[in-house]
Amino acid sequence: MERSPRVVILADARAVARELARRVGETLRAKPDLVLGLPTGRTPLLLYQELVELYRRGEADFSRAITFNLDEFLGVSPGHPGSYRSFMRRFLFDHVNADPSRTNFLDGAAADPQEECERYEHEIDRAGGIDLQILGIGTNGHIGFNEPAAELEARTHRVRLKPETRRSNAALFGGDAETVPAEALSMGMGTILQARAAVLIATGRSKALCVERLVNGPITTLLPASFLQLHRNADIYLDEEAASALGGTR
Ligand code: F6R
Repeated sequence: MERSPRVVILADARAVARELARRVGETLRAKPDLVLGLPTGRTPLLLYQELVELYRRGEADFSRAITFNLDEFLGVSPGHPGSYRSFMRRFLFDHVNADPSRTNFLDGAAADPQEECERYEHEIDRAGGIDLQILGIGTNGHIGFNEPAAELEARTHRVRLKPETRRSNAALFGGDAETVPAEALSMGMGTILQARAAVLIATGRSKALCVERLVNGPITTLLPASFLQLHRNADIYLDEEAASALGGTR
């Protein structure tokens, strides 16, 4: 039986970005109204550069695509430079022909966060579900902001961020982890796993151990990414450094 997730190892982070951008471009050509789930963070920066390149070369048309970002910091307004909405504008949406009315975000400043999470689930349903969910992975094994815990939540929810997650997002908030919001809103594990296809990208040596546990370890709430083993159509694209702990066990 084919293993899930499938593991694709490429030479370096640029090759990972190119391969996934090529796939997104191809999928968009086949289905112009593709519903894409998108991550933020350092890992997808090269991917977004490559998508902008594809768009400039006329090889990717985002005008009918629908996007849903995975997560947002709680208490951060959409216009705040540290918000993930600002991040996406800066690195992708301001540089391609995405239709702002079709790009969806959680509003971190919503008056009622619970209602906001329900609204988001409803919007994803209304779009017909996510066709292709792109994911990064935290060094602690989180996907979206589903942090390791005794229990995980299925649907979009409010979450308390781990100190390591706040540290790795410090750059968005002036470099101080203490100024990173302590809470966020995130798609849940079920929301993510219901995507028709999922691709997790991981690059660099700091991701080698969590990737090894994701691929070879048991399915555990202590490594939320391990649930991708249950997905029928999941891939992980790695550079050689992120794949370096896999050894011969693949
Ligand atoms: C953010 C998200 C997170 C990141 C993860 C890795 O939208 O979904 O799960 O993918 O924290 O972040 P980087 O790429 O900065 O290592």
